[in-house]
Amino acid sequence: MTRIAVYPGSFDPLTNGHLDIIQRSCALFDKLIVAVAHNQRKQPLFSLEERIAMVRSVSDPAKVEVDMIDGLLVDYAHTKGASAVVRGLRAVADFEYEFQMTLMNRRLAPDVETVFLMTRDDHSFVSSSLVKEVASFGGNVDEFVPPAIAAQLKARIAERAKK
Ligand code: PNS
Repeated sequence: MTRIAVYPGSFDPLTNGHLDIIQRSCALFDKLIVAVAHNQRKQPLFSLEERIAMVRSVSDPAKVEVDMIDGLLVDYAHTKGASAVVRGLRAVADFEYEFQMTLMNRRLAPDVETVFLMTRDDHSFVSSSLVKEVASFGGNVDEFVPPAIAAQLKARIAERAKK
């Protein structure tokens, strides 16, 4: 039996924390689908296509499929034959949001289990939004995102500043 999991998120941009969750999930499942979402609550810095390309550029194509998701996560999981949803968990602050989503998803689809992977301690404070904020004020984010993504972030922020 092939165990397939979906790791959904905005990934705007992908951080080293996300990358760690991708790599550790690959050890637990036969196949991981990273599903890049348009989150209605967020205004992204990078387009869906750019975020998909970012995830592809750092993940192993033998085990990781990168896709977009534009409907309900549980419907997507069913379509892909996935039995699990993976989410990373950092601090207590993440809990409320994750708890709510997990219970809603479980009510919608009891057969899809949500699995949480606890962040690595050195990534526990890293989030896409903080990385964007630091970069927007000229701070160095090289430690928090893969090198190519740091470069893209700097370029996008410089572009926005010109407008
Ligand atoms: O990285 P994010 O922005 O915290 O990820 C949120 C995401 C993409 C997991 C969530 O918005 C989601 O599942 N979107 C798909 C639509 C959906 O199923 N919404 C109901 C969730 S209970």
